[in-house]
Amino acid sequence: MKKDIDWKNVGFSYLQTDKRYVSNYKDGAWDEGELTSDSNVVLNECACVLQYCQECFEGLKAYTTKDGKIVTFRPELNAARMMDSAERLYMPQFPKERFIDALDQLVKANVDYVPPYGSGATLYIRPYMFGSNPVIGVKPATEFQFRMFCTPVGPYYKGGINPLSICVSDFDRAAPHGTGNVKAGLNYAMSLYAVMDAHNRGFDENMYLDAATRTKVEESGGANFIFVTKDDKVITPKSDSILPSVTRRSIMHVAKEYLGLEVEEREVYLDEVKDFAECGMCGTAAVISPIGKIDDHGKEILFPSGMDHMGPVIQKLYDTLTGIQMGEIKSPEGWIHVI
Ligand code: PLP
Ligand code: COI
Repeated sequence: MKKDIDWKNVGFSYLQTDKRYVSNYKDGAWDEGELTSDSNVVLNECACVLQYCQECFEGLKAYTTKDGKIVTFRPELNAARMMDSAERLYMPQFPKERFIDALDQLVKANVDYVPPYGSGATLYIRPYMFGSNPVIGVKPATEFQFRMFCTPVGPYYKGGINPLSICVSDFDRAAPHGTGNVKAGLNYAMSLYAVMDAHNRGFDENMYLDAATRTKVEESGGANFIFVTKDDKVITPKSDSILPSVTRRSIMHVAKEYLGLEVEEREVYLDEVKDFAECGMCGTAAVISPIGKIDDHGKEILFPSGMDHMGPVIQKLYDTLTGIQMGEIKSPEGWIHVI
């Protein structure tokens, strides 16, 4: 039986569910893993993750489709990205098949928390891995824990799909040749001061620039950017220091193959942003969140789509992507994983 939750009004916050998945790595191997009811992680005070942030994570969602199936969206891409993150942080990789098996077990065990079709809410799934044994010299752990939990969520930004107001940040999120292209918790620690600074100044989010020249658009703290030109071309920034978003890869495919639009991944200069017709942030949590205006140190860029509604191209991308995820529109081969 579904839990008695006011699905239409859940926010993007943590609600503890019944089960989570845990597997431990020791002596060079992962154990077989299991579901547990215990939501607490008990660690030694000197655990590598606590001292040196050896941690990476993922984020994906489970949806109830129109015909009542429970599905996840391209989970093998999250599994693969987590393997890349682990490698970059000198952690053992959690194999892709094990990731998918853990996901299936987790969602089945928490099926009563999967929001119903049409509620606007989804089940957010958070896989993560960290160095767990005591380490005092700066070196990687030798023991690790992989965990996966889930929580029902609503829209990431308050106000749902209303256009957001963001600012160009004076802080950098990632260094050239750093860890910006993997999903390491440390990247998010880097962004916490900056995001609170943006909020305190009345903005919803930051636009980070490339750290080397501070002339090119990178991404926000938790999503990639997409832009639409005045002649309906979809453009997204190319950079080695941003996270390769699953949502963005999917949107670019949808734009080209479903909507017949021209798409381009290329360096985007801050200087040219004022000439675009529409702007949005995309990610698992953000889905596609439209941006109405950008503050660049007092200079305001107000997109023609304005602050009242999504621009027409972003709206079509949003409808098509979410239609595919909810089983209303036929998906490309292999995108939908039925639990
Ligand atoms: N960029 C950052 C920094 C993120 O945290 C996320 C969220 O996962 C994304 C982009 C979007 O990636 P995805 O679409 O795979 O969720
Ligand atoms: C996601 O979209 O899954 C993210 O990880 C972004 C944010 C919640 C950290």
